[in-house]
Amino acid sequence: TQAPVNVTVTGAAGQIGYALLFRIASGQLLGQDQPVRLRLLEIPQAVKAAEGTALELEDGAFPLLAGIDIVDDAKQAFDGTNVALLVGARPRTKGMERGDLLEANGGIFKPQGEAINAGAADDVKILVVGNPANTNALIAQAHAPDVPAERFTAMTRLDHNRALAQLAKKLGTPVSDIKKMTIWGNHSATQYPDIFNAEVKGGSAAEAVNDQNWLENEFIPRVAKRGAEIIEARGASSAASAANAAIDHVHDWVNGTPEGDWVSMGVPSDGSYGVPEGLISSFPVVCRGGAYEIVQGLEINDFSRSRIDASVGELTEERDAVRKLGLI
Ligand code: NAI
Repeated sequence: TQAPVNVTVTGAAGQIGYALLFRIASGQLLGQDQPVRLRLLEIPQAVKAAEGTALELEDGAFPLLAGIDIVDDAKQAFDGTNVALLVGARPRTKGMERGDLLEANGGIFKPQGEAINAGAADDVKILVVGNPANTNALIAQAHAPDVPAERFTAMTRLDHNRALAQLAKKLGTPVSDIKKMTIWGNHSATQYPDIFNAEVKGGSAAEAVNDQNWLENEFIPRVAKRGAEIIEARGASSAASAANAAIDHVHDWVNGTPEGDWVSMGVPSDGSYGVPEGLISSFPVVCRGGAYEIVQGLEINDFSRSRIDASVGELTEERDAVRKLGLI
């Protein structure tokens, strides 16, 4: 059997962590022949709860689970890590301004970036889930100058999956009939789910829908505000679906995307589609051999252009704000 891969999960005692860890241990992150060693990072007050989750992981008797370490120190958490899932973040609380939120998250993602820089394995892949995910990824990346910039990614796969599900529902077709969905921009309410490049059973999804009113007034807001809809219904924010999307993101990055399809990932822009270089923005990507590439040459109509520009504008503002705060 293969040597274990080290997987670090931050915020391990949180609700996403609870839904995520068992799926990693069962082999759904990296594959059914790949042992994993889990490294859980929590703040000191939550270490005991993480230890409780570790007891349950033990009770899963997972054949692929080679060990679990629980730490409250970032340097230890990322030492030798191959896959880093940065889930723990500071949520916005009542009365908190954006600057306060970014500053609080800077206090988390700056030291984590430094720790990744200091100790992570050469092949480290990083997924930031904790919000504001794109900008938190930018902060961590800024403090890890020795790690190739493209290894820092942010999660928009939940948005991608939500868009697939809503479109499938509208068309009365299984999700598996839909390919080439794209989320552009920020993981926020300005994100743009693009069906103009999507396909249903090989044909144009936008033509199959042929309903601009639904697109503008139902589909896009539904996908973009789905997080709020879940909170309203469940009394808590999306957790299992977020964990599921994190599994999908890393699984596809490591194992590749299917022929004839792509996925959405928040990745550092190389200037493609007019997104300023260096911004961590969501793009359509294909993955092969453990690396991803932004899909090139897609047609962007005027409607899509204005939506992408709005979301990218928001990302630019977030970047400028963290620059001003000295966080990058
Ligand atoms: P939660 O509040 O249940 O858990 C967060 C955990 O992070 C807590 O256990 C907390 O102790 C821990 N934590 C805080 N600071 C930490 C630090 N410096 N190091 C290590 N751990 C730390 O939150 P939940 O529901 O698990 O969500 C986690 C994050 O994921 C939130 O920021 C949420 O907004 C975000 N999220 C992102 C989604 C996306 O699509 N990108 C979707 C859903 C949630």
